[in-house]
This record gives sequence, C-alpha cells and structure tokens, in this order.
Amino acid sequence: MSATILMTDPARYEVAYAINPWMRPADWSASPAAHAHAARSAWSRLKAALEAAGARVVVMEGEAGLPDMVFPANAAVVLDGKALIARFRHPERAPEALPFARAFERLQKDGLIGDVARTEGVFQEGAGDAIWDRSRRLFWVGSGPRSSPASAQLIGEHFGAPTVSLALATERFYHLDTCFCPLAGGEVLYYPPALTKAARGRFFDLVPASERIEASDEDADAFSVNAVSLGRTIIMARPPRRLADQLAERGYEVVGLDLSPFILSGGGAFCMTLRLDHTSGAEARAVRAHALETA
Ligand code: ARG
Repeated sequence: MSATILMTDPARYEVAYAINPWMRPADWSASPAAHAHAARSAWSRLKAALEAAGARVVVMEGEAGLPDMVFPANAAVVLDGKALIARFRHPERAPEALPFARAFERLQKDGLIGDVARTEGVFQEGAGDAIWDRSRRLFWVGSGPRSSPASAQLIGEHFGAPTVSLALATERFYHLDTCFCPLAGGEVLYYPPALTKAARGRFFDLVPASERIEASDEDADAFSVNAVSLGRTIIMARPPRRLADQLAERGYEVVGLDLSPFILSGGGAFCMTLRLDHTSGAEARAVRAHALETA
C-alpha cells in the first residue's frame, strides 16, 4: 500500500513573524518575491521527490495571513483513519486549527479520513510532536517548547496506541520532528543534545545502540533530521556529506533537496508533509490473536 501524504500549496507562505529561533522575517521582507518564487520551486521539488518515491500527494490550499499552514505536519495527529486536529501554543498559529479542521472534513468527504476530532485542554502541534513509529507501533511524543507534557496521555487515549513521552531540551529544536526521525528500516536518526537527559534514557531503553543513528551539530543545523522516510528512500534538506554516506551504508537512498526558503521559517521536509495512511496494525494483531486462539 502506498503512502498518502498531505501538503499545503505554498502560495500564502511567507516568513512574517518569529516564533522559533530559525525564523528571520527581515530576511524574507528584504526580497519577498524572490523568496516566494524560491519557495514554490523548493515545494515542487519536494512534491516530485515524494511522488517519485511512490507516494500519493494530496494538496490543500493555505489561507492568507496564516503562512505556517504550509507545514501540515502540525495540522493533526493521524492514525487508523482518525485525525486529531492540533491546538497551537502561539497566537500566531492558533487560528490555523479552524481551516485545518475544515480541510480534514473535506478529506473525510473524499474518503481519505474517517474521523475528525479537535484537541482540547492541552497544546498539541500535530505530527510535529507525535511521530508514529511503524516499526515499534508507538507514538514518540515531544513536549516542552510547543506541545504540553499532558498531550502524550491524550494521544494515547484517543488512538488507543502506546506513546513514549520525550521532553525537548532547547527552543532551537522546538518540535520533536526537528531532531528525531524513525526510519523505515527500524533505525532512528536523532540529535542527542535536543532531548533532555531523561528523554534520552527512555529512548535508549527502547532502541538498541545498533539502531540509533546520531546526527551531528552540522546535520541538525542543515535541518536534515527533519526527513521523510519512505521505504528505502529518505527525503531531506540537503544533508552534509557524512550523514548521506552513513545512511547510504545502511542501504538507504538519500534525496537531498534545497529547502532553504522553508528553513528560513524553521521547517524542512517532514514539516511540509503529513502522512494520512499510517495504521497501528491493531486490527491485524486482533485477527492474528483470534487465529491463534482458535487454532
Ligand atoms: N514556523 C513554523 C513554526 O514555528 C515552523 C513549523 C515547522 N514544523 C515542524 N513540524 N517542525 O511553528
């Protein structure tokens, strides 16, 4: 079954405010037309790379005045056809929840999503802070700069899936997806200094050293950890040579793209996408358990 990925058309994208240390609105406003043009090209290259890797890409429209809608990873957490719409911490992004909810209702009509609910009571910034790990069948849940620590329990209850809570250590790596990326083969690419000591400990307990790939300062600064892993293909902001070699040695094909217009907002490949097709395998497991019981 092929991946289904949501992207937001970049027509309304710009860097208009700063809510993370990467954002440079003054740079953008110095030459908005050139940046917008570069952003459109970078976005199209990413879409083409996803499609070349076999994904089906569904495109939604953004809204004027809500430039960060171009990062649908933050729109919702999605599993088993259920979408839990985000609740954003910053007032600049809070109004995105409504248009994202409407977009998901349209996806529901198109049969791409089954159930749509809104996050209440806690901050939770979508898949940016709730990354589904297909190999381990659990959510890695980030908290601190954006999502509330209590979001892990909410996600666990809503989806009936295991969650592992990882507190983030710095504002620079403000969403878990900026520093943590489970790969299709079961390895996890991550940037150690971005996790608290307790979070690293929890992660080490669940993922053996042979499956941990440490990103360097350089890799994290290039925004390459924010990657989309599709089978043997990994699509990321152009990586430093050493990281590309390391992943190639493990059998991956790395597609490195110039995503600089989006890094100017603190976003990369993963942020610009949202998987709609992840399943927990709960149903498959239930069928297998039943088969064993009745065997
Ligand atoms: N400017 C956006 C923000 O600060 C970037 C979001 C990037 N998305 C992500 N999933 N890391 O919220």
